[in-house]
Amino acid sequence: MAATLVNVGLDERSYPIHIQSGLLTEICPDLQARKIATRYGVISDDHVAGLYGEKLMRSLASAGIEAELITFPQGEANKNLQTMAVLASELAGRGFDRADGLIALGGGVTGDITGFLASIYMRGIPFVQIPTSLLAQVDSSVGGKTGVDIPEGKNLVGTFYQPGAVYIDIDVLQTLPAEELRGGLAEVIKYGIIYDADFFDFLNINHAAVLALDNDIITRLISRCCEIKARVVEEDEREGGLRRILNFGHTIGHAVEAASDFQIIHGLAVGIGMCAAAELAVKTGCLSQEKALEIRRLIKKYGLPVSIPPELDRTAIKKFLLSDKKTIGGRVFYVLPETIGKVMITDQVREEDVDAVLMNV
Ligand SMILES: NC(=O)c1ccc[n+]([C@@H]2O[C@H](COP(=O)([O-])OP(=O)(O)OC[C@H]3O[C@@H](n4cnc5c(N)ncnc54)[C@H](O)[C@@H]3O)[C@@H](O)[C@H]2O)c1
Repeated sequence: MAATLVNVGLDERSYPIHIQSGLLTEICPDLQARKIATRYGVISDDHVAGLYGEKLMRSLASAGIEAELITFPQGEANKNLQTMAVLASELAGRGFDRADGLIALGGGVTGDITGFLASIYMRGIPFVQIPTSLLAQVDSSVGGKTGVDIPEGKNLVGTFYQPGAVYIDIDVLQTLPAEELRGGLAEVIKYGIIYDADFFDFLNINHAAVLALDNDIITRLISRCCEIKARVVEEDEREGGLRRILNFGHTIGHAVEAASDFQIIHGLAVGIGMCAAAELAVKTGCLSQEKALEIRRLIKKYGLPVSIPPELDRTAIKKFLLSDKKTIGGRVFYVLPETIGKVMITDQVREEDVDAVLMNV
């Protein structure tokens, strides 16, 4: 299948998302044409760097693009201010200045760290994204949210800072661990529920091809997710309104993730969170039981959990729900589906319904 191009239209901060098999070694002409920077710091976690670092560096070198690979230890635990400080010192030590830029090569952790670093190093240098996990390809590399975690909470320190371009090579998904792939698929399913009933059907029909990472189907899948994310971000870049629909499944999902002490990875927790939100929508009277079942069936079909593990402490989940950073003035806002393809945002949810959902989902 030919390359796909999605544009994120944000006036002077607009940028393209290129989606193509084999793109990792073919980004140079576009990168050069955009004149983003004279030299690049390629930031990658040590795992992804081991898999794809050399390949990218060789390709940049053969096109005459000056670049240096800088790595940090993989994992969410390293998405913190200490890593930022080490990377900033590394850049300064190597003489990176305002004419230079960064390339994020990796999953959402790498993208969030690199974007944040680019936004504050020398008061802002350009960066581009080469997302390598499915989650990063369909979600975190697009939209300009950057940041790191602090002990008090995830993503509590960060900026809005758009990349200059996003390059998605679908081939790198071949090495992604199965659980990480499923986690990314939760975010993919989310787009169908919040925005696009046809895409929900596409995921139902093409289930086997998606899991087999069929070239054509995966390209279409990623393109559609990027299009939806782009449209939402274009309308509401700083999450004042519409962008909040992207939090569907995340309110209860984050609480489940935290209550499990992060033993349940993000995407799987989002799967549970989406089922819980659908159930809550039924109790609140905005979604039919039949549609909630359809949602649950698709999530299950992709091998994602649909229930909160019985051993997980419900009081702890409730506590995390109330301390969610998206809580406004102590009120918890829920994104609830009205049907497949359309959601609403409300804080008009009865506490006993939330309790019942946490007990029964
Ligand atoms: N900025 C945003 O809008 C946004 C949106 C959603 C999530 N996020 C953030 O994204 C992060 C999660 O992203 P993630 O799931 O990609 O985590 P991650 O970056 O830690 O990647 C997950 C694991 O997969 C490995 N990996 C990545 N690509 C690989 C590949 N092609 N082959 C083999 N292994 C590979 C990584 O080394 C890592 O061990 C969280 O920190 C979350 O807060 C940000």
